[in-house]
Amino acid sequence: MPEIRDLLYVRFEIEDLDKQAQFLTDFGFEVAREDNCLFARGYDSAPYIYVAEQAKGPAKFKGMGFEALTQPELERIAAIDNVAIEEIDLPGGGLRARMIDPDGNDVDIVYGVSQASKLPPPSRPPFNQENQEGQEAQNRQNSPRLGQRVSFTKTSSSIKRLGHCVLNVTNFRASETWYKERIGFITSDEIYIGSEDKTLGAFMRLDRGEAYVDHHTLFLVGAGHSEFNHAAFEVCHWDYIMQSHDFLAQQGYEQRWGVGKHVLGSQVFDYWKDPAGFTLEHFTDGDLFNRSFGSHKQPIEKLLAVHWGPEGSP
Ligand SMILES: [Fe+2]
Repeated sequence: MPEIRDLLYVRFEIEDLDKQAQFLTDFGFEVAREDNCLFARGYDSAPYIYVAEQAKGPAKFKGMGFEALTQPELERIAAIDNVAIEEIDLPGGGLRARMIDPDGNDVDIVYGVSQASKLPPPSRPPFNQENQEGQEAQNRQNSPRLGQRVSFTKTSSSIKRLGHCVLNVTNFRASETWYKERIGFITSDEIYIGSEDKTLGAFMRLDRGEAYVDHHTLFLVGAGHSEFNHAAFEVCHWDYIMQSHDFLAQQGYEQRWGVGKHVLGSQVFDYWKDPAGFTLEHFTDGDLFNRSFGSHKQPIEKLLAVHWGPEGSP
């Protein structure tokens, strides 16, 4: 079984780091700056989940980093492309093998990055809902929140972790094979147009055996050209998505799509453009599956379908 813990970070080159730092802070990250580099983290213990380096030309997406659970796994993957393992000169240190995917994106496999201290997550009291297991529908005395107002704590980061990345790729099958060989992805939902043999792309999840993982950590879209589509960050709770939606609009940022709830993956989502033009997503309440969920095929109509929320696309 491949031993990849999770997607750890996304990397960009950005022209205006000051502007980007303000956006990232407004988006819910805790942001640090070192020389010509921004590091943004969530309240989980990864020292960074978003990295922006000073661009020398136009802004661009550089790539992603995946964390191996063991050093032998890092070495196994590095050997596939005969890539050197080097020390990481970033907070938390560690070892890295940097590979290049079929479209020229950097794909880092890292191991031994020291964890930072967890930050206190923002909290909210439990939801009063009728469908709690074991609760009699009419018995309000069993409601989860009794004698307590809803109130919110604010902390330095409202983002928990990086959840997934979506890439438009030149050749879906070539990229799918490349990533599956190295990261060990399992297809969750392959998307087809018209008939099942006309594949557009696929939502893919990590293979952690019995352990539950996100419905997708990587979605490859066979767009016929290479382009960053979006990166999605899991936030602390549903209310935060709504609070942040209004706040980001008030700051004048460009909204892309949301708030809504996906059918495939079930996330409550909200997509925004950062000042450099890259789409970043807030999400919560996503599906978790393990190996036994298997692989499925879905028509393109389901790809953009929502349980509720506006029609659109990221
Ligand atoms: Fe997404």
